Amino acid sequence: MRLKVKIFIQQILVFLFLLGLLPAHAFVHRHRFVIKEAPYSKLCSSKNILTVNGQFPGPVIYANTGDTLVVNVQNDGTQNITIHWHGVKQPRYPWSDGPEFITQCPIRPGTNFSQRINLSDEEGTLWWHAHSDWSRATVNGALIIRPANKTNYPFPRPTAEIPIILGEWWKSDVQAVVNEFLTSGADANKSDAFLINGQPGDLYPCSTNDTFKLTVEKNKTYLLRIVNAVMNNLMFFSVANHQLTVVGTDGAYVKPFKSNYITISPGETIDVLLEANQNPNHYYMGAKAYNSVVGVDFNNITTTAIVQYRGNYSTSSPPILPDLPNFDDTNASFNFTRSLKSLADKGHPIDVPLNVTTNLLFTFSVNTLPCEDESCSGPNGDRFAASVNNISFVLPRIDILEAYYKNIQGVYRDEFPSFPPLNFNFTGDSLPVELQRPDRRTEVHVLEYGTHVEIVLQGTSLLGGVDHPIHLHGYSFYVVGSGFGNFDKDKDPLNYNLVDPPLQNTIAVVRNGWAAIRFKADNPGVWFMHCHLERHVSWGMEMAFIVKDGKGSEEKLLPPPPDMPQC
Ligand code: C2O
Ligand code: CU
Repeated sequence: MRLKVKIFIQQILVFLFLLGLLPAHAFVHRHRFVIKEAPYSKLCSSKNILTVNGQFPGPVIYANTGDTLVVNVQNDGTQNITIHWHGVKQPRYPWSDGPEFITQCPIRPGTNFSQRINLSDEEGTLWWHAHSDWSRATVNGALIIRPANKTNYPFPRPTAEIPIILGEWWKSDVQAVVNEFLTSGADANKSDAFLINGQPGDLYPCSTNDTFKLTVEKNKTYLLRIVNAVMNNLMFFSVANHQLTVVGTDGAYVKPFKSNYITISPGETIDVLLEANQNPNHYYMGAKAYNSVVGVDFNNITTTAIVQYRGNYSTSSPPILPDLPNFDDTNASFNFTRSLKSLADKGHPIDVPLNVTTNLLFTFSVNTLPCEDESCSGPNGDRFAASVNNISFVLPRIDILEAYYKNIQGVYRDEFPSFPPLNFNFTGDSLPVELQRPDRRTEVHVLEYGTHVEIVLQGTSLLGGVDHPIHLHGYSFYVVGSGFGNFDKDKDPLNYNLVDPPLQNTIAVVRNGWAAIRFKADNPGVWFMHCHLERHVSWGMEMAFIVKDGKGSEEKLLPPPPDMPQC
């Protein structure tokens, strides 16, 4: 009798599940990531690069909203590594977040670590990448999160979905590039190419045969899921003769709008619809660097891929190149970023904190520090450094999360200041770089559980000023305002967008300007915040938050898994 009841209940559950009445939460996807060197014999030369499963870009991971991923990362390489799930909030579980010496010790060669990634409300495109030294140059891939069962896209269903991963390429070994620039104290060597799905395209030698090609059918619509995995540049991207309809960013939907180009920061993802509504032909899609720093040598080659219409027709030769903004067009970049707005409709409500309880103002500066040797190759024989509120972050030897969880003293200090230590005209003309020499420290900022936080991210013009794509782990935040110059705490909040601000995990703070972000500190743990320009990270433009446990049982950090890598 009891067995019958059990079977009956099971049948009802299966029935409800099929009806889509139960959330599809329980879905667990298992993957194995083998980190290993693999030959990459393209681009006129062959070299070994660090990969996941021998692929570059790495495997695309698919999931639905609310699913769980279990990724067993096996390090078969020769260097330490960690893997970060960029844009995944990892509720109460920073143990799988990945930044080296922030939430975990590295996965050493010959060892493995099984990362459990619980998706929550993320929907759209995110990505994963290595989060130790510069290995993310080749260790990265897309993470595509489709709507959960029975819910749909808030736009017409596309014919196909195509990951477009923008990358950056050095002919020499990336590790050698880092080592050199860290010893010399100079800026990093400029890269040799930018890439679309692993290839620079026709404007670069030896790439033509392998250039990425997207075949389209006239009058069909394609969803391009664009990831900026570039190391050191914001990028402009467009498709010749086609308008793009922007529909999402950073794993959240936006109000659709049309644009001839997009700007995308390192770390950011943007979803666009491409309507194949032009004359059958072949067209280039292209991306090039947006570079606002004056006097810095940068790679200004456009990377291309091909959009090819199916059918018989005579093609123009070569394909038509897209019109991209000038490399230094700050307004083009800023205006695009400013036009992102949350969908903010019934199915996608927003939850922006209206009563802020914690106000923070962080300055982001490029600085110099004295050279330890005779002379370095940075400005005036010094070495480059970078800072947040004049602290140039030093990575500890034991990860901060472990030190916090186990109460290990002496690993970090918890006095990261709420405001810059010196008030100056942050974006003034020709500030002397000696105005601020940063301290080198491992300093965290503690947030009480449930506080409503606003951070004004303020760029400074020390050494000229540059855009900083600031990324926060463990949260998405609402970008409620942004502008040029110094943030004005009396005037600027009057113009905040509290109606449909975009929900992002990375925001480009415009050159010599600011951005204001808000979030509820409801995810306990240790969460890294940093500029996503890799050379700025190496110089110290980062800090970490500790968000304390709340009172409720659902408001506390979960315990670590048994196989956490050891230092
Ligand atoms: Cu995309 Cu801390 O990283
Ligand atoms: Cu930066």
